[in-house]
Amino acid sequence: MTETLLKKPQNEALLLQAAERYGTPTYVYEASTVRERIERLRSHLRGAPVQLLYAMKANGALPLLRIMKEEGLGIDAVSPAELELALRIGFEGNQILFSANNMTDDEMDFAAQEGVVLNIGELSRLERFGKKYPGESVCIRFNPQIGAGHHRHVITAGEKSKFGIPVAQTDEVLSLAHRFELNICGVHQHIGSGILDTETAWKACAVLLDVAAKFHSLRFINFGGGLGVPYRPGEQPLDMERWEDLIVSPLRTYRDRHPSPDLSFRFEPGRYLVAEAGTLLVRVNTVKESHGRTFAGVDSGMGHLVRPAIYNAYHATYNLSNPNGTCRIYDVVGNICESSDFFARDRAVQEIREGDVLAILDTGAYGISMASMYNIRSLPAEVFIDGTDHVVIRKRESPAELIDRLYPEL
Ligand SMILES: Cc1ncc(COP(=O)(O)O)c(C=O)c1O
Repeated sequence: MTETLLKKPQNEALLLQAAERYGTPTYVYEASTVRERIERLRSHLRGAPVQLLYAMKANGALPLLRIMKEEGLGIDAVSPAELELALRIGFEGNQILFSANNMTDDEMDFAAQEGVVLNIGELSRLERFGKKYPGESVCIRFNPQIGAGHHRHVITAGEKSKFGIPVAQTDEVLSLAHRFELNICGVHQHIGSGILDTETAWKACAVLLDVAAKFHSLRFINFGGGLGVPYRPGEQPLDMERWEDLIVSPLRTYRDRHPSPDLSFRFEPGRYLVAEAGTLLVRVNTVKESHGRTFAGVDSGMGHLVRPAIYNAYHATYNLSNPNGTCRIYDVVGNICESSDFFARDRAVQEIREGDVLAILDTGAYGISMASMYNIRSLPAEVFIDGTDHVVIRKRESPAELIDRLYPEL
């Protein structure tokens, strides 16, 4: 199907200037958008004791992590290196939740020794933790059997999901906790990513609240991340009034019914805070007609932004060099030797000429953090813009620099 609507970037002049100044391909992140999203989310959480953790897997750029710290968010870390990074930036152990999937003993020991609460989603891991750290605090990741998300690959709960302990096994959790005198200080779920359907999200939250009632020393109930953003033109942003009514209001009531000075609710968004703050700038080097299609080939590809290839994800694509051009239909494709290497298919974009700069919008989340150097191509540059300050946070390596780094023996 052909897409005909055009979504415009918020700050065209700034993006064009960045492309000229830093070249392409370059990711640009704007601090103001991140701060605005934090504020927007918080404005819908008032009156409930809520802590926000940032899911750093969405984008681990240092300036973004520093904003999260300044703003008082904690961190959701899912690998030892993410944990190490959070600690080095100065997050305290008690501001971090460690949710590594299929955790190893070494990973468990590392987090435990740093005083970070582990989020455990397997009974066998809970048993190992209990044997080694009897009497310690731990959080349990449950599978509430309800999943949601923008694509089946990002649904992380439900019958087919590898994540979490099924709620039907709550008694086994309680019995392991009893056997090893564990303090279950938190219960957690994360049902998926890119969720715009608040009703389904609420159903899963209600399941977790029921489970929570079976534990008596909880400090937090963590509902995970997943808040979606509108990628397609015409797609409505998450209705935050509705989100507050459906999800936050019952939490206020829950808290009134289970008064405890220590209990807080947690959310751990990634995408919602950073997706719309990022733009990937690419330059067109080839325009060609083939079998009735027009391909615009650019100097970037699925190594830099893999979401279209693996989720068929939509990212609005805007011609910064020809903003008033007449729209024509293009396949915007990358420079990687794969047929899944595309940014946009059958997409109306203002007429594209070789040399034009395109903005691939809403790429602040799961863009650079999922990037690879497939085909031995360098990662894009990354620039962070905060007011009038521009900071190059990653320089684009030349082929020689890249080979020197990867093969120092040559
Ligand atoms: C445990 C956990 N929490 C939070 C998130 C963040 O999700 P999102 O970026 O959709 O908010 C993820 C993403 O995969 C996750 O696995």
